[in-house]
This record gives sequence, structure tokens and C-alpha cells, in this order.
Amino acid sequence: MTDVQKGLEKVIALETKISYIDGERGLLEYRGININELVKLTFLEVSHLLIFGHLPNNDELEDFFNQMHDNRDIDDEVLNLLKICNFNIEGMDALRTIISYLSHCDQDLNDNSMTANIRKATKLIAKFPTIVAAFHRISELEDVIHPDPSLSHGANFLYMLKGFRPKDIEARIMETDFIISAEHELNASTFSARVTASTTSDIYSAIISGLGTLKGRLHGGARLAVMEMLDEIPSPDEAEKYTLDLISKKQRIMGFGHRVYKTHDPRGLIFKKLAIQIAKENKDMTWYDTAQKIENTVFQEIVEKKNKPIYPNVDFYAGVMYKYLEIPPLLATSVFAIGRIAGWLAHCIEQYGDNRLIRPRARYIGEHEIHLRK
Ligand SMILES: CC(C)(COP(=O)(O)OP(=O)(O)OC[C@H]1O[C@@H](n2cnc3c(N)ncnc32)[C@H](O)[C@@H]1OP(=O)(O)O)[C@@H](O)C(=O)NCCC(=O)NCCS
Repeated sequence: MTDVQKGLEKVIALETKISYIDGERGLLEYRGININELVKLTFLEVSHLLIFGHLPNNDELEDFFNQMHDNRDIDDEVLNLLKICNFNIEGMDALRTIISYLSHCDQDLNDNSMTANIRKATKLIAKFPTIVAAFHRISELEDVIHPDPSLSHGANFLYMLKGFRPKDIEARIMETDFIISAEHELNASTFSARVTASTTSDIYSAIISGLGTLKGRLHGGARLAVMEMLDEIPSPDEAEKYTLDLISKKQRIMGFGHRVYKTHDPRGLIFKKLAIQIAKENKDMTWYDTAQKIENTVFQEIVEKKNKPIYPNVDFYAGVMYKYLEIPPLLATSVFAIGRIAGWLAHCIEQYGDNRLIRPRARYIGEHEIHLRK
């Protein structure tokens, strides 16, 4: 047996054509296209790229758009389910329950053919934002808002969440968040989804595995943790002391550090620019200034003094942007999932297309030959 790589660090578990990360240079590509280019597209174009392997031509885009539109609504049974299982939970918990229920209603649940999976993928991408927004409105005892087909995926989500159309900058930030959050190679939740798909289980089950894994605070749940941290800091002036306290107690600064990037996370850089734009537009620098002070303190104390590559990751400035968008913290990780669903689906489809059961080994370090007393 080979050496144990704790946390599977640096282990190459499979081959993929979906995305590429260069952790030393801070580079991320989906299907060979740099994310700095991809942010000029729409989330639907990027989802098509991830799932079908190419950007859509006009006809394909129209078809994809129409299918999204036809699948966005959720029916009364789903709304009723959201009403009965709403116990001060996170959006992620609601999503997991509803996706499980939706799988019961799909007559192709156990059909893992490409055609059936593409149909299910379209349905899932379309419904994720509607479920998250409806969950929130029901928990606030407000009317559920139906999707508006004239809006982009990002703008429509904010509209369904708040009941009014977002400003242009808000719509652009939401769309960019979905694009940038969509895919990241073999991260923990994508790995979970692929492991489930590799057993030939259905794609809904694979997505539920992904949801369960994304929720944790070392992964997508870091967005919620960042929002909570920002709420705990009374003003930008107190951010440095707050961060120094965490460092002296050897606690992790949420939204910092990454298994693969040893330099700036390129997604964090994009989000940071958007965070400053919306701060200026809103004429309220509070969240941005607080975040900047945390970042500067981590840089001085950990990057410079301890020579560790602990830079803001995708979740840090996402959390800041969400504060400006007034996204409730309990929804933060589920908003991440609205983007990430596209990557999970692409990976499941790739896995079904060239499958081998994913089944690593563990080195046993317990005792042997223990006999039962008669
Ligand atoms: C993402 C993360 C889980 C990666 O973990 P990992 O690759 O297993 O890295 P390790 O836990 O081995 O950490 C390596 C070193 O960096 C330090 N480190 C890593 N992330 C840190 C953080 N956010 N704050 C402070 N120190 C951190 C560790 O303490 C460790 O130091 P040591 O070698 O002196 O013990 C980790 O960086 C983390 O917990 N970040 C905060 C949560 C977060 O933002 N998650 C979202 C990721 S996109």
C-alpha cells in the first residue's frame, strides 16, 4: 500500500476535462477558458459550457433558456413541504430535503442515461434559486414570488428573494457569484457527488451528497462563517484587534487559506473588486473596510511573519458581497449551491460517462486477533 495522504492532499483521484487549477500561479479555467473571461458571460452560458463541454450557439442558448424558464417554478406540494419543515434551519437543509422530495416525483429517477441526466440537470439548475428564495420568504411569513423570465438567473434570484427587481450592480454581482462559484475541480463536495455517482446511484442522490458536504464550514459553509464574523466586529476600527485575538488563540480566520492555492485565489480577487464597487455604489464602506483590515492583519501576521500562504479564498469577499446584497446569513451556503450545482452536474455526467467505482483503501491501525470471552 502507498503512504497515507491525510485529507487526500495532492492525490490525483481521476482525470477531468471540466476545470483546471494552477495553485501556484492562482489560475482557474473552466473547459480551458480563464474565469476572468467567463465572468463576461451569463450563468446559463457557463452552465451550458460545463455540462455540454462547449459554449452554446444561439439556437442552443435559446433552447437552454426556454428549458430553464419552463422548469423554474415549484409546485404547491414543494411549498407545503417547505412550510412544514421550516425549523430555523439553513437554506442548505431546506434544499437537501426538497431535492430529495423532487427525486420521488421524477419518473426517470433511476435512469442514468445522458438524455435523462441532462433533463434532470436542467430541472435542478432551474429550481435551486426558486427553492432557496421560497424557503426564505416562507420563513419570513411573506408571499412566495414567482420567477420572472425576463431576468437573468442572478437578477431573478434576487427578485424572488426580495420581491423587487435588483439594481444593475446587484444583478451583475449575483450573476458573477453564480459563475465563479459554479466549478472548482475535485473540491470536497464535487468529490462526494462523484463518489455517489460512481456507485451508479441516481444523480439526485449525488447532488444531495454534494449539498451535505458543501454545508461544512471548512468548505462552502465558510461563507456563513464569514458573515457571522463580520457581524461580530462592531466597526472597521476593531477589525485588527479582533483578528489578532483569533490569531493569538490559534483559531482559523474563516474565508482564508486553501488546500490548492498557494497564492491569491483568483476568485477572491474578482469578488474583492465587486465588493468595493458595491460598497461605493451604496456609499457605505463599513463591510469592505472591515474586511480589508482583516485581510491586512492576516497578511502581516501570517503571510509575512509566519510565511504561510493564507490569502482570502472565494468565500471571504463573497461574504462581504452578501452583506451588501442583504442576503440573510442562513442562506449564504445555499446561495453558493445555486452556482455550484452546475459543476456538480457536469462532474456526475462525466463520471457516468466513463465510470469506475471510487473506492480507496484505509490503512488499519487498530488491534488484531482479539477473541471474545466465552
Ligand atoms: C481551507 C482549509 C480547510 C484548507 O485546509 P488544509 O489544506 O487542510 O490546510 P491545513 O489545515 O493543513 O493548514 C495549513 C496551515 O495553515 C494554517 N491555516 C490554514 N487556514 C488557515 C486560516 N484560515 N486561518 C489561520 N491559519 C490557517 C493552519 O493552521 C496550518 O498551520 P500549521 O502548518 O502551522 O499547523 C483551511 O485553510 C481552512 O480551514 N480555512 C478556513 C475555512 C475556509 O475558509 N474554508 C473555505 C475554503 S474555500
